[in-house]
Amino acid sequence: MADEIADERIRPVRIDALAFGGDYNPDQWSEETWLEDIRLMKEAGVTMVSLPIFSWPQLEPEPGVYDWGWLDRILDLLHEAGIRIDLATATATPPSWLLRAHPEMAPWDSEGHRLEFGSRQTYCPSSPIWREHVARMARAMAERYGEHPGLAMWHISNEYGDHISRCWCPESAAHFRRWLQNRYGDLDGLNEAWGVNVWGQRYTSWEHIETPKKAPGPINPTKLLDFERFSSDAMLELFQIEIDVLREVTPDIAVTTNFMSMFRDLDYWDFAAREDIVTDDAYPEPADPTSHVGAALNYGLMRSLKGGRPWLLLESSASATSWRDVNVPKAPGRIRVESLQAVAHGSDAVMFFQWRQAKYGQEKFHSSMLGHRGERSRSFQETKALGHELKRLEAVRGTRVRSRVALVVDWDSWWGSSAVESLPSQRLRWDEQARTWHHALHTLGHAVDTVRATGPFEGYDLVVVPNLYITEQPQADALTAFAESGGTVVVGPFSGVVDATEKVHDGGAPGPLRALLGVEVDEQWPIADGLSGQVGYGAAELAVPHWAEWIEADADVEVRGGYASGVLDGHPAVTRRPVGDGAAWYVSAKLEHDGMLTVFRDILHAAGLPARDVVNVEAEAVTRADDTTDYTFLLNHGTDPVAFELPASGVDLLTGADATGRVELGAYGAAVIASPRAASVPFLTLTTTTE
Ligand code: GLA
Repeated sequence: MADEIADERIRPVRIDALAFGGDYNPDQWSEETWLEDIRLMKEAGVTMVSLPIFSWPQLEPEPGVYDWGWLDRILDLLHEAGIRIDLATATATPPSWLLRAHPEMAPWDSEGHRLEFGSRQTYCPSSPIWREHVARMARAMAERYGEHPGLAMWHISNEYGDHISRCWCPESAAHFRRWLQNRYGDLDGLNEAWGVNVWGQRYTSWEHIETPKKAPGPINPTKLLDFERFSSDAMLELFQIEIDVLREVTPDIAVTTNFMSMFRDLDYWDFAAREDIVTDDAYPEPADPTSHVGAALNYGLMRSLKGGRPWLLLESSASATSWRDVNVPKAPGRIRVESLQAVAHGSDAVMFFQWRQAKYGQEKFHSSMLGHRGERSRSFQETKALGHELKRLEAVRGTRVRSRVALVVDWDSWWGSSAVESLPSQRLRWDEQARTWHHALHTLGHAVDTVRATGPFEGYDLVVVPNLYITEQPQADALTAFAESGGTVVVGPFSGVVDATEKVHDGGAPGPLRALLGVEVDEQWPIADGLSGQVGYGAAELAVPHWAEWIEADADVEVRGGYASGVLDGHPAVTRRPVGDGAAWYVSAKLEHDGMLTVFRDILHAAGLPARDVVNVEAEAVTRADDTTDYTFLLNHGTDPVAFELPASGVDLLTGADATGRVELGAYGAAVIASPRAASVPFLTLTTTTE
């Protein structure tokens, strides 16, 4: 499934402005309120709204009986007001009548319980009935609205996997078996791949294979891993069913489905390859003063999923969410800087969930652009100001982020390091590694792209691989070729351990990466909870929580840091091997943020790349560019003032003022400096503001 992409044409989203607006649920409001909505949308500078995402029951109240009238009317009103429409296929959730007629389409949990109607997304992704009805509804929508002049793009389903990303029902089991037959051919192939001689797991009939429901003990790891892959592919098939219908009826209209940021359960590389534009829903935690760092990694992923093309922030929150245990609002000004951060990182949109705050239901306490106080609400005043400010940034639409650094995102290793129950330690996961490594690079001043382990790496000077538990030869070959041609590769702990069937590579880790890195792992050396190892790095001592490794390094490998405590005292911890015109580093320990700052500073300097001396995690600079102009976004994510040193003079698009030398920003401040495109990626250093 993952490799068949029928159509590589990219259709443009039909909007000639930065998209600004939100989810719109007119079916929760009277038609009189719609008129007020339109008036206030215009006042706020709204250019696009998303609807009717959850409205299937309102559009088809009985099987085959449609009520299009209300949607016709609101779409026309929006169009007349010049507001573009991100038109949902309305298949995000089934009507009750469909589920009651076909109870077998409900999803099951891992303990075999069927889930009840009463929330949303009550479907099994593999259900043939659900798939048939989804295709039917998408066709009905496309036939009715495919030529609507307000249509900007198709919004398929909504946040695949939000509530249901895996299903353990009999239909899923049958689908899983078909998927396995396709992958392994015959039962011998499956038995070999799954290593069934361990714990007597041999299968003699396909019918004996179930979804990995709760079992007496740890489940066969390759089965668990394949279930992750299968579940992502099952959802991908569901997506493709709608894409096929829409391509047939409206071949020139762009399609998307909104992602959920760094979401573990679906391999977004595969999803993005099928759609015209990447769209994302991002909800950085307002209670966390560093949540913008995770957001930067997420946005780096979003722009990279389609090779650096602009993407759209389709949902964010104007203030508090309502799905956390404690939903902290955003301080005044934070909406603006967080929104501009998404644009800085390549989004051509700032959109919210949702336009008007609900009066009832599960999300009535979720903030919206238009809060319960209506025009007087702070969220309206702040988002309206933002809508107008965005108009000054039209020049950045379509431009691309410049970056010299890429981080490898690999869903297989994410699944392998989180789904498998029997590992040396459960304290080393791909996603945590990725976040810690990214955090350090972000702090040192780099905007980080993401990339697959097989590349493409052109244009980058540094590729970091925070963890690649599952490694196959093509990945090692691509990374090696990159280093040989002058790039720097950095590989993290517990990489090159197993192949795609979860079998340990001959000779152990780092398997196919051994020649590149020039090290061998004798034993993984997890550290008990509450204890910490130590790495000596020059004059610094770096804490090692949870994970170390006993490694042996080849003679041509330089040891940059060594273990400095416990049994591993004196053994190499961080190594560097010259490779062709470049270098390959191995960081065998799980380090904390401070430790990674030290190690990455060394790596960046060795690679001839800049690193900030004065660091402040709240001060972010990202450059988007076209052929002639750099647009450098300066952002202060905190409340203390920060100051950047501009490498080139320019004009702040937000104020129209000339900018040169030092630029100071107050609490949640932002500037967007347009200057002639520099030969190399602009790098912004900081000055202390307390001098
Ligand atoms: C998701 C969904 C929306 C809404 C928001 C609330 O992003 O797509 O329908 O539930 O969460 O944060």
